[in-house]
Amino acid sequence: MTNPHITEPRIPDKPYPGNSRAGKPHPGNPQPDNPHAGNHTILNADSLVKSYKEGEKERMVLDHLSLSVAQDDMVVLLGRSGSGKSTLLNLLSGIDRPDKGSVTISGHNITRLDEKQRTLFRRAHIGFVFQSFNLIPTLTVLENIMLPMELNGFGDRRKHDAARNYLDEVGLLDRSDTYPDRLSGGEQQRVAIARAVAHEPRLILADEPTGNLDYKTGSHVTGIFHQLAKKTGSTVIIATHDQNMRRFADHIYLFNEGTIHSAGDMSEQADA
Ligand SMILES: Nc1ncnc2c1ncn2[C@@H]1O[C@H](COP(=O)(O)OP(=O)(O)OP(=O)(O)O)[C@@H](O)[C@H]1O
Ligand SMILES: [Mg+2]
Repeated sequence: MTNPHITEPRIPDKPYPGNSRAGKPHPGNPQPDNPHAGNHTILNADSLVKSYKEGEKERMVLDHLSLSVAQDDMVVLLGRSGSGKSTLLNLLSGIDRPDKGSVTISGHNITRLDEKQRTLFRRAHIGFVFQSFNLIPTLTVLENIMLPMELNGFGDRRKHDAARNYLDEVGLLDRSDTYPDRLSGGEQQRVAIARAVAHEPRLILADEPTGNLDYKTGSHVTGIFHQLAKKTGSTVIIATHDQNMRRFADHIYLFNEGTIHSAGDMSEQADA
């Protein structure tokens, strides 16, 4: 999965008013397609189909997958390597488009937006945590956390205060001027979590956030992530094969044959 903060071009646009949840029409904050969509559902993925060509053959990765996520929930998607976890997160974030089906976030059908609109929407409303942390090595810890806020047009004072606040929340305020390569894996992931949360996006997507951490560090980092998400009221979707994540989840889904099933329905097949 690419890091939007690294790879996406800075689109010259008038300063975007942060993540205002009651924002005005804007490429990154269009009017909801369905303003009366259920108050408690933040994300709705409807019958997503995604396949890749392999020579002559077509390989179906997601086969009419549907998912509905309630506001403030922490959802864990468990699945084997190759089951389609990253593919799904790429569709939910609008990095990639489904062959069929749609993704609606807070009443906005992002599948209908063009690439520039999706980029702006993602930047304002979605935070990411990656397996490989994806911190920018030439920026200090504090500057890394400020970057998404800078891209969203936050003022200097606001982004500085928020970055320090969230760095404190993850227990690393004393490392704010350090460069990422001086930090341990667990510390880097805590910085990445602070970065994902600091602009207070509606939705945080995490792709194998503990994949590069040992069990103990992974549990510690997940605990911090969970606490912070509950505190800020963010909705979190984590894709992982780390069964340890189960205890933090409000809902668990298991990948099976291109679609997902609630763990409640699939407990006997929980072999992710
Ligand atoms: N751009 C692509 N082109 C062709 N095939 C792809 C592409 N992206 C993913 N795939 C295939 O889709 C399937 C699902 O990949 P995906 O990366 O979503 O799995 P995953 O569940 O995230 O696995 P892992 O746990 O190893 O990260 C794999 O078989 C992969 O080879
Ligand atoms: Mg993956």
